[in-house]
Amino acid sequence: MVVLVACGSTGGGTAELAGWIAEELRDAGFEVRLSAAADVSGAGRYEALVLGSAVYAAGWHPDVRRFVRRHASDFAGKPVWLFSSGPLDTSADDGPLPPGHHAEEALHELGAREHVTFGGRMTAEARGWLGFLARRMARTGRAGDFRNPLRVRGWARDVAAQIRASSPA
Ligand SMILES: Cc1cc2nc3c(=O)[nH]c(=O)nc-3n(C[C@H](O)[C@H](O)[C@H](O)COP(=O)(O)O)c2cc1C
Repeated sequence: MVVLVACGSTGGGTAELAGWIAEELRDAGFEVRLSAAADVSGAGRYEALVLGSAVYAAGWHPDVRRFVRRHASDFAGKPVWLFSSGPLDTSADDGPLPPGHHAEEALHELGAREHVTFGGRMTAEARGWLGFLARRMARTGRAGDFRNPLRVRGWARDVAAQIRASSPA
């Protein structure tokens, strides 16, 4: 069973989170390919997919949206899970958040089993290169790391259990 973990990330926070997920799936015994969504080729060979995106201005990363358009048919009938990484507060850990519109579209296009939102991270450097909006968000006290490795890794182990349960013995 070869699992693809792919994501779109601008500042690296979501990419690191995808790495934690890939690690858990590997520890559970799966062969895993971890890739930026823009770099995936030959997607048809993968038997399951975990796809994630950073959220900017309520939208998914353009590479992830392109991935969904290009590869929906490669994952037809295969198990798919989605995640977003965004909120710069603890709201993602306080209870389930509804998927944004791109996640909603992807749930439908990919026939995904689930979408989950994890907290995000905004570094001091992001203030420099993401411009005015990022600087304003930082000034309002939202810069920081709101990712929760224990929750992310727990979710990944649950995904692993579901993949195992759905694959032939
Ligand atoms: C300019 C800007 C806009 C953002 N807009 C949103 C948003 O609409 N919704 C949200 O949940 N998070 C938003 N965020 C937070 C990012 O999603 C968060 O920083 C995320 O961890 C970035 O992931 P990355 O490091 O992989 O790019 C925004 C961050 C910045 C800097």
